[in-house]
Amino acid sequence: MIVGVPKEAFPGERRVALVPVVVPHLIKAGFQVLVEAGAGTGAGYRDADYVEKGAKLAASRGEVFQSVNVIVQVLSFGSNDVTGRDDLALYRRDQTVIGFHRPFGSLESVQQLASTGVTSFSVELMPRITRAQSMDALSSMATICGYKAVLLAADRLPRMFPMLTTAAGTITPARVFIIGAGVAGLQAISTARRLGAVASAYDLRPAAKEQVQSLGGRFIELPIEAKDAEDKRGYARQQDEAFFERQRELLGRVVAESDVVIPAAVVPGKKPPVLITSEMVKSMAPGSVIVDLAAERGGNCELTKPGQRVIEHGVTIIGYINVASTVPYHASQMYAKNLTAFLLHLGKDGNLQMNLEDEITRETLLTRGGEVVNARVREFFSMPALAAQKS
Ligand SMILES: NC(=O)c1ccc[n+]([C@@H]2O[C@H](COP(=O)([O-])OP(=O)(O)OC[C@H]3O[C@@H](n4cnc5c(N)ncnc54)[C@H](O)[C@@H]3O)[C@@H](O)[C@H]2O)c1
Repeated sequence: MIVGVPKEAFPGERRVALVPVVVPHLIKAGFQVLVEAGAGTGAGYRDADYVEKGAKLAASRGEVFQSVNVIVQVLSFGSNDVTGRDDLALYRRDQTVIGFHRPFGSLESVQQLASTGVTSFSVELMPRITRAQSMDALSSMATICGYKAVLLAADRLPRMFPMLTTAAGTITPARVFIIGAGVAGLQAISTARRLGAVASAYDLRPAAKEQVQSLGGRFIELPIEAKDAEDKRGYARQQDEAFFERQRELLGRVVAESDVVIPAAVVPGKKPPVLITSEMVKSMAPGSVIVDLAAERGGNCELTKPGQRVIEHGVTIIGYINVASTVPYHASQMYAKNLTAFLLHLGKDGNLQMNLEDEITRETLLTRGGEVVNARVREFFSMPALAAQKS
């Protein structure tokens, strides 16, 4: 069984799906690894490092797709809406592809992927169970995004983060407010605290309170309660517009008093709620910064322009997308470890097993034999359920 790593094709993408250090683990498990020349360069991994660890190099993208049984990518077709379409013609029916496929993005793209006949696994669908933690690529990328969001804010803020007592007077610490204390939000709290800021956070899931406090952040409690705040997977449940309206009213004062606001409030497959209105931006001090980590799907701030940095009412609003790609070395390292754990889970004696009794395999399998086979994705797009799949 040969695992192939093509160079990422999304413009500006610097990550790579496997890094040299994981290659020996795959070889030990019976896999061979073929890497497109230059695939790791953008992330700081040289071709020679892959070869030294036992991988082979392919001269072209076409060669990788033609020669391997399993393609591993960061941004696969569904999540690469610029150049991903080119891969559709390269996938083979007997091939498996593992990567970010954006399974709740568009029915059309999931169906197009299915129509190639390829067997695809979507890392976004990884169940949130202890056994799958080492394979959880969403958490890995969210960790990177939370960290980087704070640095982006610190770079733009006309103030320093730490409190300093100097001969020239006392500098007060920056006040950083995080909305949505999931994996990214919690990492943002830690990073802001390490830089000396005063960090506070709000989340509609009551379980987040203890996590925020354990990182030294202040948890902001609002006098509203979300209905069934958390689903069985640990994600927030979608709320109605009346709830968001009330949230905006209550968040107004905290936002106005913050130097930096990092909203990261999302619900899988749903458009992120607008929690920061234009009026709220106006209420912030000039020079304040918002880093909208929900920008990729539209944003939590009304004035966010996805992919851009804008200044509105004197406030810098950063809506960059693909933030994890800006820390490519560690993003690739974490992703490669996640993929390797997943390949070792699927593999037996160098072959991939399709044991659909297994929750991890069943939940992540997106397409197979020309069909969209994932029950959660079918339900999301109101497709009729399939008869039980055979292994
Ligand atoms: N294997 C595991 O057990 C596992 C793995 C990863 C994450 N988790 C847990 O799952 C939870 C969510 O993880 P995530 O970061 O991937 O979630 P996410 O990226 O889907 O959402 C980010 C955060 O936004 C919050 N949010 C959504 N709508 C909101 C609103 N209107 N107002 C305020 N907050 C809102 C969510 O509650 C969540 O905490 C965390 O508690 C995390 O620790 C568990």
